[in-house]
Amino acid sequence: MSLGFIGTGRITSALVEGLCTAKDPPENVLVSPRNAENAARLAARFSRVSVAVSNQAVIESCDCTFLAVVPQVARSVLKDLCFRTDQTVISLVPTIPIDEVRKLVDPVKSVVRAVPLPTVSQHLGPIPLYPKISQAVEIFDKLGKPIPLQNEKELNILWTVTALIAPIYALMEETCQWAIACGVNRQNAGAYIASMFHAVSAVIKDLPDVRFSDLEAEAATPGGFNEQALSVIREGGGYKAFLNALNSVHTRH
Ligand SMILES: NC(=O)c1ccc[n+]([C@@H]2O[C@H](COP(=O)([O-])OP(=O)(O)OC[C@H]3O[C@@H](n4cnc5c(N)ncnc54)[C@H](OP(=O)(O)O)[C@@H]3O)[C@@H](O)[C@H]2O)c1
Repeated sequence: MSLGFIGTGRITSALVEGLCTAKDPPENVLVSPRNAENAARLAARFSRVSVAVSNQAVIESCDCTFLAVVPQVARSVLKDLCFRTDQTVISLVPTIPIDEVRKLVDPVKSVVRAVPLPTVSQHLGPIPLYPKISQAVEIFDKLGKPIPLQNEKELNILWTVTALIAPIYALMEETCQWAIACGVNRQNAGAYIASMFHAVSAVIKDLPDVRFSDLEAEAATPGGFNEQALSVIREGGGYKAFLNALNSVHTRH
């Protein structure tokens, strides 16, 4: 399979790294010439990556093309390109609805929207996509956890949830600073907190129908530290603040 990328920025770099280091990498990866530095770096690092002469050349040579330009230029980039019916287009541009993407890449029949995270470079993380197209699921299987969705609304809501990544890192940093202020060595505090967050996430990663409330109840032994911390955070409006953040971000789209 030949995969192409229009726009060679941060997310393309992560996807190409993840694909080329996967167990079953694609035969060829063709990236568009902009950004020239990123494109040259990827081609130098991975033998199966080449730099196309133009965006049109990417489309002509590939079975499946990712649209990975910023929303501000996406429409003008696409209006100059000619697509074929027998190819797949995966749009990573979060603000252009699927119906509009379909019109922009007409006559392509197989059109998907997806929202990967940069952690795909390490074959990690959720990849929500809509609609479910088996070729896209097959590609995303190499890169993390594909999550085919029922409708576009679900995609937009889960995209909103990505806004919690920085707040979660900030929670780790606040916890780390607290431990340091209480007298723990910086390196030990960092190692402990990183490993604890990793462990609590790793054990739930592959549960098919995870109920977070069951895990919460299991961890919150009556009269124990966890139960105490939960009640202090709830009473202090800690979780409400996270919900307020999600609602605030969600109103932007
Ligand atoms: N980063 C993420 O984690 C992430 C995750 C999911 C979805 N997305 C979406 O994916 C898209 C790309 O995001 P990004 O973070 O990779 O942005 P980015 O780093 O800014 O990359 C966009 C690339 O598009 C190139 N470009 C500009 N005009 C072009 C043109 N006419 N033809 C071809 N390429 C052109 C830019 O090249 P120059 O540098 O030369 O201008 C730049 O390298 C966005 O719509 C974003 O919302 C990003």
